[in-house]
Amino acid sequence: MKEQLNSIRMQAEQELSNVGTITELENLRVKYLGKKGELTTVLRGMGSLSPEERPVIGQLANEIREALEAKIDKAKEELSKKERLNKLEKEVIDVTMPGKRKMLGKKHPLSIVLDEIKEVFLGMGYEIAEGPEVELDYYNFEALNIPKNHPARDVQDTFYINENILLRTQTSPVQIRVMENKKPPIKIICPGRVYRSDAVDATHSPIFHQVEGLVVDKGVTMGDLVGTLKLFAKSLFGEKTEIRLRPHHFPFTEPSAEVDVSCWNCGGSGCRVCKNEGWIEILGAGMVHPKVLEVCGIDPEVYSGFAFGLGVERTAMGRFNIDDMRLLYENDIRFLRQF
Ligand code: PHE
Repeated sequence: MKEQLNSIRMQAEQELSNVGTITELENLRVKYLGKKGELTTVLRGMGSLSPEERPVIGQLANEIREALEAKIDKAKEELSKKERLNKLEKEVIDVTMPGKRKMLGKKHPLSIVLDEIKEVFLGMGYEIAEGPEVELDYYNFEALNIPKNHPARDVQDTFYINENILLRTQTSPVQIRVMENKKPPIKIICPGRVYRSDAVDATHSPIFHQVEGLVVDKGVTMGDLVGTLKLFAKSLFGEKTEIRLRPHHFPFTEPSAEVDVSCWNCGGSGCRVCKNEGWIEILGAGMVHPKVLEVCGIDPEVYSGFAFGLGVERTAMGRFNIDDMRLLYENDIRFLRQF
């Protein structure tokens, strides 16, 4: 049995010197020292030995086991060091190699225009307010002086969740939410998504974007409104841009106006873009109706205000000469790359 043990030892050491990877090393450990390993198998036969031989063989076997374990552990350490070094060498980075080109995304034209609009009004001291897109009928219509059955609801038909909850048709409900919670002076813009049950065509979409503006303070006049919109139009469409107000009706402003800017394409002489009008309508505006102030607990005898609402899509189409609104939603990379 002694010889058997010694030959196992020699064989194991011989194999150990040829091991090149940690996996091979592990296999070797199992082969000799594992539960079904060669050393273990030999030791199982110890029962047939005489009582004198047993401790001698037992000691020898233990020595061999310990020696092998130590050698395997050492080999393992060396192998993992070698593998680590190999890996480091393989992963060396050549900093002189040309870089890989990253495809950089761009801002969507709607975002570009929205950011420009925000920039202009933030510069004038406005704050940005937000409101929910799923809105109560009360905020979207009622509080804005558009009672049930008012004809103004016809042109702003929308998607109803139930009788009292709908997808907002305009950003104007944010006016009410802000005035309910804050006393004047108020100076906000509210950008956001709005919904109407319109069919899709070159100038309509059931989902589009507006920016609402609201200023309420003592002594706010129509002159302030005009001055503000003029500055806005020039900032967005160029210094030469003029604005024009046409009388209009909105239930929540009085007086109300539709606001045109001189055509960004021809400057006002008339062209295809402005349908030979020289002017292009971009927003609705007016002085906040006294009833609306009152509903929000603001005394119309003390305070006055103006409000305006503009379409972001329309503005973007003007700013970039885009002739079909659908292009803004199709996400065709060839289109989007141009901005
Ligand atoms: N909310 C109006 C619309 O969507 C626009 C508007 C806003 C008009 C504020 C006047 C004042 O048509």
